[in-house]
Amino acid sequence: TSLVPGTNAVQNTSNSGSIQSKEVTILYGSQTGNSKGLAQKAASTLEGNGFQVTVSAMSDFKPNNLKKVKNLLIIASTHGEGEPPDNARSFYEFLHSRRAPKLDHLQFSVLALGDSSYEFFCQTGKDFDKRLEDLGGTRLYPRFDCDVDYDVPAAEWLQGVLSSLNESHGESAAPIPIAAATAVESTYSRSNPFRAEVLENLNLNGRGSNKETRHLELSLEGSGLHYEPGDSLGIYPENDPVLVEELLQVLPWEAAETVTVKDGDSRTLQEALTNYYEITVLTKGLIEKISKLSHNEALKNLVSPGNEEKLKAYMNGRDLLDLIRDFGSWGDSAQEFVSVLRKIPPRLYSIASSLTANPDEVHLTIGAVRYHAHGRERKGVCSIFAAERLKPGDTVPIFIQHNENFKLPADPEAPIIMIGPGTGVAPFRSFMQEREEQGAEGKAWMFFGDQHFVTDFLYQTEWQNWLKNGVLTKMDVAFSRDQEEKVYVQHRMLEHSKELFTWLEEGAYVYICGDEKHMAHDVHQTLLEIIEKEGNLSREQAEEYLSAMQQQKRYQRDVY
Ligand code: 2AM
Repeated sequence: TSLVPGTNAVQNTSNSGSIQSKEVTILYGSQTGNSKGLAQKAASTLEGNGFQVTVSAMSDFKPNNLKKVKNLLIIASTHGEGEPPDNARSFYEFLHSRRAPKLDHLQFSVLALGDSSYEFFCQTGKDFDKRLEDLGGTRLYPRFDCDVDYDVPAAEWLQGVLSSLNESHGESAAPIPIAAATAVESTYSRSNPFRAEVLENLNLNGRGSNKETRHLELSLEGSGLHYEPGDSLGIYPENDPVLVEELLQVLPWEAAETVTVKDGDSRTLQEALTNYYEITVLTKGLIEKISKLSHNEALKNLVSPGNEEKLKAYMNGRDLLDLIRDFGSWGDSAQEFVSVLRKIPPRLYSIASSLTANPDEVHLTIGAVRYHAHGRERKGVCSIFAAERLKPGDTVPIFIQHNENFKLPADPEAPIIMIGPGTGVAPFRSFMQEREEQGAEGKAWMFFGDQHFVTDFLYQTEWQNWLKNGVLTKMDVAFSRDQEEKVYVQHRMLEHSKELFTWLEEGAYVYICGDEKHMAHDVHQTLLEIIEKEGNLSREQAEEYLSAMQQQKRYQRDVY
C-alpha cells in the first residue's frame, strides 16, 4: 500500500445539502479491465451501503457533467510511459484543458493502478488527483497507488472512501471488513487462477529464423471460464530454475530453509524464489528498501539524493543476481531477505483463438524473449517459461482478463481492418475464427508483417484458407528483411491509401495489435497521413476524424 505522504484525508466540513448527496459517480480508465472490475466492485459495495452509484468508463462520460457530480471516485490505470489508457484519454485531455470546469463543489478520491517496475508509476492517477484539486475539488480520501498486486490496497482504499462518505453524512463510520471487499469470487479469477493443462506447444518459426514464436494451446475444461475475441489470458509464470540456482549460490542461506510468503504460506527459500517472488526486475523502491537492510556503503551511496541518474543507469537491464554479486546480500535471515521482494506479477497475452471455434480451449501466440546484457544471457520470465518449460500435460495457473476496448463490431456485416505484425497477429486469428463460425459477411482486411516470408509468416496456411473461403477479403504482408530496404505494415497501408480510406468511409473498424512504442505509433501517424491525403483534410481535421472513430469504438488498440 502506498498511502501518499503529505496528503491527509480532508474531511468535509460543509453542511450544504448538496454536498451531503448520497450519489456517487465512479469513473474508470482501464486498458486491460482491472480498473473496470474494481469500479464495479466499488459500486456494489457502496450500493450495499445505501449510496446511489453511477459507474462509467471515462470514454462514455460527458466531462461537462462533472459540474453536476458531488462525489467522484476515479479508478485509473497507467499505460506505457505514464500515459492514460485509451478509454481515459479524451476525458483526461478535457480535464487538463482550459475548458475544464471549476469543481469547488466536488469531493473526490483517486485509486491509481500501476506497475512499480515502470518509472512513471501510477502517473495517470497522480495527474487526476492533482488536477481535480487544482480545479477546486476537495479530497474525500487520500489517493492510493497500487502495484500489480492490487487487491488488498484497493479494498483498503474502498473502506476508507466508504468511511469518509459515511462521516460526511454524519453517520457513524461502519467500515466494511476488508475480507468482505475482497470476497473470494466463485469462479476462477486473477486472485484464484485456474490450473490449465497444456495441450500443445509449438514453435511457429521455421529453421534459421531470428525469432521463436510459440503457439500454445491450453485446456479450459472444467473451469467454467469464458472469453471473447479481443480478451487476454493472464499467466502466472515461474522463474527460471537456473537463475534461482545461481541466486542460491550467492546467498548465505540453504535452499531448503523455510520462509513465510506474503500469503501466509510456508515455502522453502528455493520454492519461494521460483514461484512466488519477482527476482528479475530492479526498481528504485526495491533498492531503497534493500539499502536499509544492507551494510554496503556503495549501495547506500547509489540510492542517496543526487545519484538518480546513476541509479537508473545501474538498474537498466540488471536483476537481483547482479545486485547481489555487486553489493552483497542483505538481511539477517532468509525471511528478512525476501521481505523486500514483490510477488511475481502475472503476464497478459492476447488470446489467439475463438472459444466458439475451439470449445474449452484457449490459444496463445508468445514471442520468446532472449537477449544479452551486462555479460549475461537474459530471458523473459513468462515467455521463456512458456517456451522452454511448459510441456503438454503440464498445468499452468491462468485467468481470463476481459478487454472491452478490443472487440469485434457487434454487427457481423461491418468491415474490419486489422493491423498486427509479429505476435500482434494473435487477436486477429481469434477474430477470423469467430467470424468464420458466425458466417459473418463483413469485409475484412489484414496487414501482417515480420522479418522473413519463409520462416516468419505466422499461421500462413490459416490466412490462406480464410482468403479462400472469403472470411478474409484482403491480406497485405510486409516482410521487413527480405530486401535491402525495410518494408513495414504501414508502407503497405500507404500503398493502398485510397482503398483504405474508402473502407474507413464505409464505416470500417480499425484494430492495431502489437508493439506500442514503434509500430503502433508509426501506424497511427500513417493513418493520419492517409486520412489527410485521401479526405483532403488538414492535419488537425484528420486528428479529429481519428478521435471521432476512437469515440465510436471504430479505432481500437491492443498494444504493449
Ligand atoms: P524489423 O525487426 O526488421 O525492424 C514484427 O516484429 C515486424 O515488425 C518485423 O518485421 C519488424 O521489423 C517490424 N517492425 C519493427 N519496427 C516497426 C515499426 N516501427 N513499424 C512497423 N513495423 C515494425
